[in-house]
Amino acid sequence: MTTEVDDLAGHLHRRGLTTSRDVQVRPLAGGVSNDVVAVTAPDLDAVVKRALGRLRVAEEWLADPARLTTEGRALQTAGRLLPGAVPRVYDLADGYLVIERAPDTWRTWKQDLLNGAVDTRVAARLGRALGTWQRRTAGDAAIAREFADRTAFDQLRTDPFHRTVAARHPGLADVVNHTTAVMQESTVCLVHGDYTPKNVLVEPGGDGAWVIDWEVAHLGDPTFDPAWTIGHLLLKTVHRPAATQGYAAAARTFLDSWAAELAGAVRIDAAQLVRQTGCLLLARVDGKSPAAYLTETDRQRTRALARRLLSDPPPTTLDAWELIA
Ligand SMILES: Nc1ncnc2c1ncn2[C@@H]1O[C@H](COP(=O)(O)OP(=O)(O)O)[C@@H](O)[C@H]1O
Ligand SMILES: [Mg+2]
Repeated sequence: MTTEVDDLAGHLHRRGLTTSRDVQVRPLAGGVSNDVVAVTAPDLDAVVKRALGRLRVAEEWLADPARLTTEGRALQTAGRLLPGAVPRVYDLADGYLVIERAPDTWRTWKQDLLNGAVDTRVAARLGRALGTWQRRTAGDAAIAREFADRTAFDQLRTDPFHRTVAARHPGLADVVNHTTAVMQESTVCLVHGDYTPKNVLVEPGGDGAWVIDWEVAHLGDPTFDPAWTIGHLLLKTVHRPAATQGYAAAARTFLDSWAAELAGAVRIDAAQLVRQTGCLLLARVDGKSPAAYLTETDRQRTRALARRLLSDPPPTTLDAWELIA
């Protein structure tokens, strides 16, 4: 760690990000795919991310460190299109991404949701932000060129999630593979690739909310991100039935705000959205990186719901709340 801290401090000096000799470095919890640290000095308050070749999960899972560059560029694009919805990028060079740091009081939305505290204003904000990013990037040739590479998305999402669950559930392989094929053919708009509550930092009791962790951003399928948000709200519902009404209200608010912001500018394939939601649920129990908070019973109920969404799909993804056994 000491050499790493020295290297980091040396980098920050060389890049002119601090002149101080007193640079404090603190690891941040929660990340599996990057070295993420808080860096503070009298003239700097930032988060620094470094790409790692191999992720800290039980099953081997390799990825390309070049995704750090993608993350930096995606944050810049997202911030340009919707200022204040993402941390600002201070610097991107030599394998280090230096970004604005959220105040210590901010939490991930996942923490709030797991505690049963559901603020639908956050859901509305996330829906509007997604709609804005999708609408403003659809049909933009420069964005299409800049985010054409799907290697990291393929390695970190399609492979550990879709391909893994197709292999582990032969009876659902056809529908999962179809979902994957539709996704791969779709190059509609910018996709975040991990639009989940753990990647949303919220200001307690305030208006601030940032979407972080853009490392697998690419030009792709507009149903992927909303399916991830809805899928995670369904997982929370399975895990904490007492808060069902809150989670369902958050999902409804999210989808309404997203649709209102899109205003028909991007065509959404409702059936693909339902299937992607099913794929996400299955991936969180039987993919390479299962959700840690689910009990065995939770996992069985999640599997049953996913199977239903994939093999006998309801008209809309919101109908999933009626189908939780
Ligand atoms: N800009 C930021 N301000 C404050 N904390 C952050 C910031 N970015 C990341 N973090 C913290 O670090 C954790 C991991 O960061 P994230 O970008 O999601 O990396 P990973 O790809 O490892 O998941 C987040 O869950 C959050 O707790
Ligand atoms: Mg993350």
